[in-house]
Amino acid sequence: MYDELELKKFVVPEFIYGKDARLLAGRYAKNLGARKILIVTDPGIIKAGWVDELIDSLEAFKFKYVIFKDVSPNPRDFEVMAGAEVFNKEKCNFIISIGGGSSMDCAKGIGIVAANFRNIVDFEGVDKVTIPGPPLICIPTTSGSSADVSQFSIVLNTQKKVKIAIVSKTVVPDIALIDPVTLTTMNSYLAACTAMDAMTHAIEAYVSNAQSPISDLHAIEAISLISENILNALSNLDNIELMGKLMLGSLHAGMAFSNASLGAVHAMAHSLGGMLDLPHGECNAILLKYLVNYNFKYSEERFRNISSAMGLNLSRESNEYVLKSLTEKIELLRFGVGISSNFKSLNIDRNRIPILAENALKDVCMITNPVMPIKDEIEEIYGQVI
Ligand SMILES: [Fe+2]
Repeated sequence: MYDELELKKFVVPEFIYGKDARLLAGRYAKNLGARKILIVTDPGIIKAGWVDELIDSLEAFKFKYVIFKDVSPNPRDFEVMAGAEVFNKEKCNFIISIGGGSSMDCAKGIGIVAANFRNIVDFEGVDKVTIPGPPLICIPTTSGSSADVSQFSIVLNTQKKVKIAIVSKTVVPDIALIDPVTLTTMNSYLAACTAMDAMTHAIEAYVSNAQSPISDLHAIEAISLISENILNALSNLDNIELMGKLMLGSLHAGMAFSNASLGAVHAMAHSLGGMLDLPHGECNAILLKYLVNYNFKYSEERFRNISSAMGLNLSRESNEYVLKSLTEKIELLRFGVGISSNFKSLNIDRNRIPILAENALKDVCMITNPVMPIKDEIEEIYGQVI
């Protein structure tokens, strides 16, 4: 299943990681030939002051710009279409996205639509984008989605109420400015959800059937960095050094999953989050232990390595014991960071389980799960959580 000599490519953008990287936006926009820039962001990021700073950096180079801020969590297809209309109407030639995964995914979608003049939902799947979008700089303000380095853009198809994954090398940003300072304005629940999202990226990438020796290195480093620092970091959101650990963990996880792809946790989270408009990281955090439990027997050695990277010293223990300890550790982290909710309190209609399972099985992330589950198995797992 895991063949080290199989041909694999590894794609990452140029990125600058470190304190104050965000302040380089103007200089890099100039290097990349920007004339008029569409800034894609959301109202929370504007309120936090990060957009004013970005504008200062752009005005220093006398750039023209337009702000597009109508981006929701779980960005909608119509928001992408509206952004593309602004881009073309204003004759922009460049995009800078500053924000979390939603802003960056929306910006990627805007670039696709602005260049291809078709509805964003037409690009669902792998390698469906024919004409690359305009140059894109991403400045992430959360340590989770890693859209700033990934080949993924996730958009909500509002008609079908399902999240679609667009996977294409053309949506890898030209430059990512990855600055831990931007994390200091996250609220604690957003920080918890995004950190658990990053942890899920790393675990799913490591057991993915599209992994490579290079993606493995980044996945294991991410698991180790995040599990070692997550609790301390989330209690000290103004500590830039600790934010740096989280940001670096997220970056490693992003490089791993962008190339190895994901698995059933994300496929099921996309389906659930799309239907009920739930926070992505929260869905992953709740589902993770159930899928570790399901997948463990298909990738025992790799889950043993994951448990070591999470600081569990279990090399002499049985697989049963490792599985039990690993799922307990995941739950300990989830509750430790404050994600104590479950889907049962939402009173979700159980008649929706078959359609949730159907959508999850169609999600591109499911293809790289260690094993392809059957519909009954996915329904059973949804049955346990909702
Ligand atoms: Fe994710």
